[in-house]
Amino acid sequence: MNVHAPLARAPLDAATSAFAADVTEALSQHPKKLSPKYFYDAAGSELFEQITLLPEYYPTRTELDILRARGADIRAIIPHHAALVEFGAGATTKVRLLLNECEFGAYVPVDISGDFLNAQAAELRADFPALHVFPVTADFTAPFELPDAVRAMPKVGFFPGSTLGNFEPHEASAFLRSARAILGPGALMLIGIDLEKDEKQLYAAYNDAAGVTGQFNKNVLVRINRELGGDFDLAAFSHRAIYNRERHRIEMHLIARKPQTVHVLGRSFVFRAGESIHTESSYKYSLDRFAALAKGSGWTPKASWTDAQQQFSVHALVAGE
Ligand code: AVJ
Repeated sequence: MNVHAPLARAPLDAATSAFAADVTEALSQHPKKLSPKYFYDAAGSELFEQITLLPEYYPTRTELDILRARGADIRAIIPHHAALVEFGAGATTKVRLLLNECEFGAYVPVDISGDFLNAQAAELRADFPALHVFPVTADFTAPFELPDAVRAMPKVGFFPGSTLGNFEPHEASAFLRSARAILGPGALMLIGIDLEKDEKQLYAAYNDAAGVTGQFNKNVLVRINRELGGDFDLAAFSHRAIYNRERHRIEMHLIARKPQTVHVLGRSFVFRAGESIHTESSYKYSLDRFAALAKGSGWTPKASWTDAQQQFSVHALVAGE
């Protein structure tokens, strides 16, 4: 009998085996580094929703304030009966603001998780009976096809929440280029970008007093334990977020509190005391640095809006020919 139960289990499904391959590779690296995309199972998405309500976490409410305050400006530049293509599906609060403000011909949410997507589509269909909703199950960082029904409509991309900040700069540029190719020449893009600011405020936003961000960070270990038969001791790791000023990014880490060996899928991974798993980078931009990134990636900045304290920004970009 094999002592490592996972080896005796049924073959992993495609998503789980991709997760397995990434995790075993990530834990073999020096330094150890995991993709932030693995935070977001149902529990992780719920924890993220809790983060957005924390007093210290300013991005979500600030972006909503900007979208509300600039509704008329946004309406003025959006073509009638355009298809609104949202990269990623989550809470519908932000897209509802746009749908209420502007007349769209269709809404196309794109997400790798079909479950979230269909739940989101059902909610919106109930509240906007006249709206055509065409969910697309796809990894939005790779090329995908828009539904035939929206081919002839003008396109408006929507990428809120500063999710772009999770990408390394070269990945952010590749995403913008890919979005330009998918949406086509002349398309508009509305994108939310978090701004560089006082280090203390950034620190507080990612090290909240209630410890929700720590739980969110550790959720990736919970997933490894459950889905890959791992034996991470959650109490033996600490959440740490630090601001890396030279690279303009908040980094989240899970720090081993003592030397230990962890098993995943029958393999052993050794940790020194104080050794880190780098689980997320959240890049912060200046208005100029973001405009330069957009220009270098096939887009022309058309407008940008911030809150009065310049904490967060929303940009309207136009796709180049
Ligand atoms: C959803 C990627 C924008 O980077 O601020 C929140 C995720 N990480 N707290 C961010 C997150 C820690 C969030 N994004």
